[in-house]
Amino acid sequence: MSPDELTDPIAFLSSADVELEGRMPWSSNATFLATLRADVDGRPVEQQAIYKPVRGERPLWDFEPGLHRRERAMYLLSELLGLGLVPPTVIRHDGPLGEGSFQWFVDADHSEHYFTVYEQHAHLHPRLAELAVLDVIGNNTDRKSGHCLYEPARDDRPDRVWAIDNGLCFAADYKVRTVIWEFAGDPIDDELLARVAPLCERVPAELAELLDAEEVAAVQRRAGALVMERVLPDEPASYRSYPWPLV
Ligand SMILES: Nc1ncnc2c1ncn2[C@@H]1O[C@H](COP(=O)(O)OP(=O)(O)O)[C@@H](O)[C@H]1O
Ligand SMILES: [Mg+2]
Repeated sequence: MSPDELTDPIAFLSSADVELEGRMPWSSNATFLATLRADVDGRPVEQQAIYKPVRGERPLWDFEPGLHRRERAMYLLSELLGLGLVPPTVIRHDGPLGEGSFQWFVDADHSEHYFTVYEQHAHLHPRLAELAVLDVIGNNTDRKSGHCLYEPARDDRPDRVWAIDNGLCFAADYKVRTVIWEFAGDPIDDELLARVAPLCERVPAELAELLDAEEVAAVQRRAGALVMERVLPDEPASYRSYPWPLV
């Protein structure tokens, strides 16, 4: 089901009953599939979600524990910028394995990922360029091709792109690692820049409280740089600008 089919997918994710289904294959952390159930406006709704408990995180040298907060922060950033690129994501303290993020499981065609979408669905290039903007402001250090999902068109809804696995974002030091370099140097849409601009002045509390003070200041700096430059950054001359593995 598409999150657009509910008036308030966030309220659903926040309050539905949770049943743990199992661990996702190939996940680098303990990432679980869960089924969520709740009555919405008198009808039963069942929807799957990706549950990432803090407890399941593999320790990292460059990020403190609590990556689920960054998953939620990227959702909020995507919404603030009006992009709708990150599936609805909440933090819950009452998960079956404790505190963690719950993200709407989108009906993606898992044979597709960034490279195939870029090659085969040219009409989505503007959306991919917007994802590049999101990742620069969010300082995403892990935009692998497979962290870009493709949802085929269904009924009267057009196909769309989703950005998942956003835990490695919002570090204070700028170190974007992404496979999305096709739009480097391209001008950023004026309307999108107008939505970025308020971030230079102030990061809304809901987002700021998920990060530390330095990280919040860094969001403002990166937003400011984009608003000044008005183009997507060039690819740095370093292999470090790519995540590994690529897909
Ligand atoms: N919101 C989602 N909707 C659909 N599939 C998802 C979603 N989030 C994750 N997945 C699937 O689960 C896999 C593992 O999730 P990911 O977020 O990459 O976990 P990890 O942090 O362990 O790498 C992804 O490669 C993708 O196939
Ligand atoms: Mg992953």
